[in-house]
Amino acid sequence: MSRIDDLVSKMTLDEKIGQLVMRALGAGTIVTGPDAAAEPSVDDVRQGRVGSILNLVGRDRILALQKIAVEESRLGIPLLVGLDVIHGYLTDAPVPLAEAAAFRPDLWEATARMAAEEAAEDGVALTFAPMLDLARDPRWGRMVEGPGEDPYVGRLMAAAKVAGFQGADLTRPEAIAATAKHFVGYGAVNAGREYASVDLSERTLHEFYLPAFKAAVEAGTLAIMPAFHDIAGRPMTGDKPLLTDLVRDTWGFEGIYVSDYDAIGELVAHGVAADMAEAAAIGLTAGMDIDMMSPAYRDGLRPAIERGLVSVDLLDAAVRRVLAAKQRLGLFEAPYARGTIVVARPREERRALVRAAGAAACVLLKNESEVLPIGPTGGPIALIGPFGTTTREMIGAWYGLGDREEAVTIKAGIEAAFPGRTLLVAEGVSGLGGATDGIAAAVAVANEAEVVLMAVGEAAELSGEAASRTQPGFTGKQAELVRAVMATGKPVVLLLVCGRPLIETEIIEAAAAVLVIWHPGSEGGAAVAEVVTGRRPPSGKLPVSWPRHLGQVPVFYNERPTGRPYADGEFFVTKYIDAPNDPLYPFGHGLSYTTFELGVPEVDRAVFKPDQPVTVTARLANTGDLTADTTVFLFLRDCVASTARPILELKRFATLTLEPGEETVVHFTLATADFECLGPDLTPCAEPGDFELSVGFSADRKALQTTKVTLVS
Ligand code: NOJ
Repeated sequence: MSRIDDLVSKMTLDEKIGQLVMRALGAGTIVTGPDAAAEPSVDDVRQGRVGSILNLVGRDRILALQKIAVEESRLGIPLLVGLDVIHGYLTDAPVPLAEAAAFRPDLWEATARMAAEEAAEDGVALTFAPMLDLARDPRWGRMVEGPGEDPYVGRLMAAAKVAGFQGADLTRPEAIAATAKHFVGYGAVNAGREYASVDLSERTLHEFYLPAFKAAVEAGTLAIMPAFHDIAGRPMTGDKPLLTDLVRDTWGFEGIYVSDYDAIGELVAHGVAADMAEAAAIGLTAGMDIDMMSPAYRDGLRPAIERGLVSVDLLDAAVRRVLAAKQRLGLFEAPYARGTIVVARPREERRALVRAAGAAACVLLKNESEVLPIGPTGGPIALIGPFGTTTREMIGAWYGLGDREEAVTIKAGIEAAFPGRTLLVAEGVSGLGGATDGIAAAVAVANEAEVVLMAVGEAAELSGEAASRTQPGFTGKQAELVRAVMATGKPVVLLLVCGRPLIETEIIEAAAAVLVIWHPGSEGGAAVAEVVTGRRPPSGKLPVSWPRHLGQVPVFYNERPTGRPYADGEFFVTKYIDAPNDPLYPFGHGLSYTTFELGVPEVDRAVFKPDQPVTVTARLANTGDLTADTTVFLFLRDCVASTARPILELKRFATLTLEPGEETVVHFTLATADFECLGPDLTPCAEPGDFELSVGFSADRKALQTTKVTLVS
């Protein structure tokens, strides 16, 4: 008999339910949700009433609890220990949206691997990451946690992060299990308001929102977390057609569903369950395995079974999946391995990795008169703004356990990078509102400087969970500060600290240069300084369109065409009468200190049959005088299809390093699957006909170079 059969045959009903219960428990627990009523005690672990824990931090505490589960509970089943290790544990990489801007899957994997090692050393076995929510609305604060607006980027991010966290062998003690979240469509919450309802077409769900989750399943993610919201009245936590019929039965997902915090119990507030027994029955029937923090399974499953709402067989199936997940993690053989291993990757190596990621994430939106990079000698540099000296804004939302005080501030980074120049510093105004007293002093500082860096944007706590904003722009009096400093006539470089695009069009247009630094991680200030000095020319690209006006939201590059496309001077076409249709900066935008040129794409076959690959090549040259990285995008447009296709779809990208004057050829190979669309019944098919293939440095259609291929049957 297998271990799992044996255990299930011995378990009482309460012990079975216990395996499905995940609680925050004990001293040393961090808070990531509403207050947990009736916190269980350590005795609940001893009695087998809690099978998983979350948010407990500190290896000694975790090990102590694990020992109780293994050595004092009747069946000795180890605990599954989960935590939000989102963009780092001790050493923080840039926030995920910023990492996405690097367009470097190797980097995405490397930072996840490092986070896994650090977390595993402390006893963590499961992270609630990667967050794969496609997001088109910067009002939604959680845009910061994900890959941005593109489904292809989401797929690559999913694969890289799952590989990074889990490694090749999940039983290894330095590997931790991934949780692909939040399944699915959460980024489309109504009006960008956190936890709100979602109304999304089946087609858009399948074309845009589901692919990243499918990629996570293909990469072997151990867990998936359904989101808090409902789609058209179907809360994700109770959605059997998606959770079981699609993901388990069609995609072949064999892992576990972990609910979001309290989400099974919240089926009552959603209005689809009358009490906890009904909520538990809906969750279990849908396929939910672990109930994070709600009373539903703990208090509701037994009555649900007694009332005949759900069967013991269904309960057993969930218990088996949870036990299998623990087995896959090697917990039965080595329950204390995580928490006692020492990976011993030197601190300097870890800091170097996040410094490189922080620099690669910076996006140069504009650079008039080449005010950047700033040379090593010259007059004073002013650093003005509320975020020049704060460590918290370097780290951003979801900061793991890293010592935030150890984050390198922009001031420290710039000071170290410019030993030959005087640095003058003024906060000006607070990042969260409050006094404006400092503006005059900041202007005085600017007047003494040759060039002004302004560290402005949004505070770390203004993006992330439960941080929707109706005006995603500068908070407090920062706009006033920037205008006053600009009025000095000094060249002003904005260092935009943010977890989402900030809609500050007038100020961005007036600035000499704008470098989006996001929340760049533990080495943030040092990373930014590398870009400002030019030691590491900027190469980041926007993973989301940067709106010009709030009224354009959602604005994204891969929209469907209209019957009345925009045409200059025409009235009855798709347009606003008070603003352009285009965002301020398109998806993929990001300048360098050098210039690159891209030739017309060529294909190895203009006409191809199903199963014949198509190779696209384009000449790429560095026409400037600096060695630098750039990213080339390959977009596709399916010209005529049974259902209208987006005007552009990202199919590939390549990030390359070129020396001054160097020329190379970029190659992209497409398989027939890349030409597929979802047919009228939502199944993939490659429909014969013409496709445009375009290469470019962003999704700006005016700057793309295009060729055509034809699929014949
Ligand atoms: C709620 C969040 O939505 C989710 O992302 C997180 O993993 C859980 N809380 C646990 O902290």
